Amino acid sequence: TVVVLIVGGLFTWLWAGADVSTVGKVAFDKELAIPPLARSSVGKDGTRVFDLRMQAGETEFEEGRKTPTWGFNGSYLGPTLRAERGEKVRVRVRNSLGEASTVHWHGMHLPARMDGGPHQMVAPGATWSPRWTVNQPAATLWYHPHPHGATEQHVARGLAGLFLVDDKESAKLALPKEYGVDDLPVIVQDVRFDGAEFDHDHDFMGDLGFLGDRTLVNGTLNPYREVHDELIRLRLLNASTARTYDFGFPDGRAFALVATDGGLLERPASMDRVQLSPGERAEIVVRMRAGERVTLRSFPQDNYGDAWQRRFGGGDDSFDVLELRAADRLRPSAELPSALGELEIPDGEGAAVRGRHFDLKLSGINGRDMEMSRVDETVTRGTTEVWTVRNSNGMPHNFHVHDVQFRVLEVNGKTPPPALRGPKDTVFLPHGTTMKLALRFDGPADPDTPYMYHCHLLYHEDQGMMGQFVVVEKGQRAGIPAGHAAHA
Ligand code: C2O
Ligand code: CU
Repeated sequence: TVVVLIVGGLFTWLWAGADVSTVGKVAFDKELAIPPLARSSVGKDGTRVFDLRMQAGETEFEEGRKTPTWGFNGSYLGPTLRAERGEKVRVRVRNSLGEASTVHWHGMHLPARMDGGPHQMVAPGATWSPRWTVNQPAATLWYHPHPHGATEQHVARGLAGLFLVDDKESAKLALPKEYGVDDLPVIVQDVRFDGAEFDHDHDFMGDLGFLGDRTLVNGTLNPYREVHDELIRLRLLNASTARTYDFGFPDGRAFALVATDGGLLERPASMDRVQLSPGERAEIVVRMRAGERVTLRSFPQDNYGDAWQRRFGGGDDSFDVLELRAADRLRPSAELPSALGELEIPDGEGAAVRGRHFDLKLSGINGRDMEMSRVDETVTRGTTEVWTVRNSNGMPHNFHVHDVQFRVLEVNGKTPPPALRGPKDTVFLPHGTTMKLALRFDGPADPDTPYMYHCHLLYHEDQGMMGQFVVVEKGQRAGIPAGHAAHA
């Protein structure tokens, strides 16, 4: 009986103590930082050149407490890079850390050698200068390290930033677009402190990876932002390593979803919640009333898995993330357009030449752990494919594909909800989900340099839930990734 009592007591204690909530507890006493727009210069050949330096430093999230952190061109996070469709860009990435890392352009359509995945390691002290032509619709993309086996650590220490793509069509639309004024970047991360330092330990149910007990927005703890316009556009990025959020507002007000990972929806979709797993983005437009204070909140998520996953895997957690304070007089905003544009992604019908299946397990994808020298899939340039991705693993996962923006065709055999009807590069797959995706591969062929697909819960990715694909010309065969001759 004693044992039963002790075990029962422990169980009750764990059960009661597991979920995290900061609802009603956040002071909102620090002005939200807006990542600066990165400076750039345009060379004679028209190339826009940026400089990023990965460096270690200290950040004062709370007054008087200096936390050791990493950042780009600063101590935490990085500047916002911004370029227009059609522009040639080059980024000089200097690694001033004491260890090798990479910088991956998440969501960007670009040659595999410029992708910044685990094959493009930048040694300490070295500079890597990828260049490409931006050729995709306006979107909120981001950049972060991708060293195989250490991505979670490198991102959690603070290496992440936004890359905004603009285009002529979106410039003409009546959307809030003044950066830092009515168009706000909202980079959400969860953290835990042990004194002044970050505590990145996984808890006893750590299969999911790191779960923090507080949230940062743009590196600001307890953030508020004054706004002066009726319509505010929030570019939400879940830059957390494992945590999924379900964003909305306490009064249940509806907002307009205008863009997903890779750009604008065909038309705004009204909703009151938007769920984002690690790596996903959503652009929403919220209507403010003069003088009010509105909290951006993350709510408990009932689609998250079983009761155990909800309780211990973070699905029941809730956070007060950011307070918007509306001025007493607001500048009137133009009504949102009813149409935003057309999706440049095939719907998969008829055109698809090939289907593939991906089964997500913590022990790898399709039963195989990531292997740097093994190319898992070979895709022919210029083709459209339909990928079926399934999670029956019991815990939540997501699925991210480099180089492309895809279209979600089906979720468990049904038409996808509005939040999955825009261009996507990452999708959340809670246990019991099967999705069909249409992907078009029209980048340059490079049989020797793979792109990645993986679970973007970074601990899972580091553990090997990742695979490699190459894009080849018709009839060409995949090579062996440079520097990774297969072991005999
Ligand atoms: Cu955001 Cu393969 O990564
Ligand atoms: Cu996963």
